[in-house]
Amino acid sequence: MKGLVLAGGTGSRLWPITQGTSKQLLSVYDKPLIYYPISTLMLAGIREIVIVTTPEEQPAFKRLLGDGSKFGITFHYEQQPTPAGLAQVFTICEEHIAGEKCALILGDNLFHGPSLGTRLHQFTEIDGAQIFAYHVANPQRYGVVEFNESCEILSIEEKPASPKSNFAITGLYFFDENVLDFAQGLKPSARGELEIGDIHNEYLKRGKLQLEQLPRGTAWLDTGTVNSLHDATSYIRTVQERQGMKVACPEEIAYRNGWITRAELLESAESFRGGEYGLYLKAVADGH
Ligand code: TTP
Repeated sequence: MKGLVLAGGTGSRLWPITQGTSKQLLSVYDKPLIYYPISTLMLAGIREIVIVTTPEEQPAFKRLLGDGSKFGITFHYEQQPTPAGLAQVFTICEEHIAGEKCALILGDNLFHGPSLGTRLHQFTEIDGAQIFAYHVANPQRYGVVEFNESCEILSIEEKPASPKSNFAITGLYFFDENVLDFAQGLKPSARGELEIGDIHNEYLKRGKLQLEQLPRGTAWLDTGTVNSLHDATSYIRTVQERQGMKVACPEEIAYRNGWITRAELLESAESFRGGEYGLYLKAVADGH
């Protein structure tokens, strides 16, 4: 299964901060935002990931992430010329996903919760498509899904004025090999975007869209506004300071998955020249 991280966009709600850089490169406490969605895919067991960015920002992402070897994985890079909608990602990544299943995660979405990795592993063998519902206080801001007690989907609506439920669709999706066909047939919506909701509806029509409700102990944060970015930083700081363990440290995930050796982890640690992040990697290598 290929992983796709959609890290383009305008980030207009964060202007002027994002007039000089990409939202996905901003810090969430002690690491760049994009480390969080990358970690989620790694926890699902995905080792080949396409990073889709604006053409202007691509060099910065390459500088930060490289070829993926320091995380024991492979990164490919693609460009989205204009932010024409989430569902454009599939045709942009055509050569990577033709005939393959894929997981798509939005570059500004942060997931944290008990056994998230183990839960996500099962979807790498998906037949159809998988979405995740999360109870939110303000569903109007999101794609909203209505479902019954057996998790059968009744409706999906994009940013409805009168939501039929409090369940938002999160920015993590798994698709089987058919997604590219559906994406190739898409037309822009009234707001001029290729909508991920239209892809979901194609699967829904065929009885192939599955839904899982994320447990209430899970944190799902999106970081599109100044306040939500600040909240994400506070959340990560609180959890990490309390536990003495990092959330979404890709080197640690790679090491614990057996994708990099202890020597490679120590080499990474050294590269931080005594910085806090490097000391943490050293402690992980020493078994703490
Ligand atoms: P949004 O937060 O919906 O859009 P944005 O990042 O452009 O921000 P704003 O609304 O403030 O202008 O996007 C969600 C994620 O998807 C984010 O990580 C950026 C990414 N994205 C793309 O890469 N390409 C796109 O065409 C769109 C719409 C979003």
